[in-house]
Amino acid sequence: MPDAAQLLAIAVEIVREAGETARRMRAEGVSGVATKSTDTDVVTAADRAVERQVVDALRVRRPRDVVLGEEYGASGARGEVRWILDPIDGTVNYLYDIPQYAVSLAAEVDGRVVAGVVHNPATGVEWTATLGGGAYRAVAGSGARERLGGSPQTDLAQALVGTGFGYDSRRRVYQAGVLHGLLGHVRDIRRFGSASLDLCAAAGGQLDAYYEKGLNPWDHAAGGLVATEAGLMVAGLSGAPPGLDMVVAAPPALFKPLHDRLVELDAAGGP
Ligand code: IPD
Repeated sequence: MPDAAQLLAIAVEIVREAGETARRMRAEGVSGVATKSTDTDVVTAADRAVERQVVDALRVRRPRDVVLGEEYGASGARGEVRWILDPIDGTVNYLYDIPQYAVSLAAEVDGRVVAGVVHNPATGVEWTATLGGGAYRAVAGSGARERLGGSPQTDLAQALVGTGFGYDSRRRVYQAGVLHGLLGHVRDIRRFGSASLDLCAAAGGQLDAYYEKGLNPWDHAAGGLVATEAGLMVAGLSGAPPGLDMVVAAPPALFKPLHDRLVELDAAGGP
């Protein structure tokens, strides 16, 4: 089995270079804006350029691996590793020049994410984790890093909870219903606009917990490992690993009350 630390080192190097492309293209003015699944689901030339850059760099370093990217889908042979890439997670923030977007890259072996990096090119902050090796936050290239341990909050009524919304209007109606049922039971809600950064914020205690329905693997693969390695429980509503249903990430003391509330609200319906 490939060494997780080595995979992480490859991912960090590639993601920093690709992040520089995203940052430079943002500074030059966003171009190639188009929509994808719905009128609110935006893609830019930078999303595509960053994905191509990461895929090309992985081909050089790990020619046999599969790469699953948000913009171009899966490519590559059946190597030992499947890389899961969101070239720009938080594309709407990127479009509006809100410095809350990230390049997210995870390495999965035998169906388990073993290494992940989430890099915010606008701030230079990056979050890394390896399976069993802990989660860390650092300013890229600074040498100093901080180990993450999640929030100490134990009371859901005092919890700051992050979430996000998909681009499908039916799903948004459902998500609004869940929000309506949760808002009176927590300290407050935040919607920052990048699922991978939300998971990293929960890992670092800037959010007490996070949930979102309908995420794709590229949204949560790397950030989910960062959160897990910071000691959070990360699961779908059924308790199984997060799939397309709902990702819930919370410290152990908050997980059950939040999860149970979300199960009730989810049962109330919606896509
Ligand atoms: C989106 C962001 C957003 C989340 C959406 C995602 P994208 O990813 O992570 O915060 O709420 O569900 O699709 O489209 O910016 O890569």
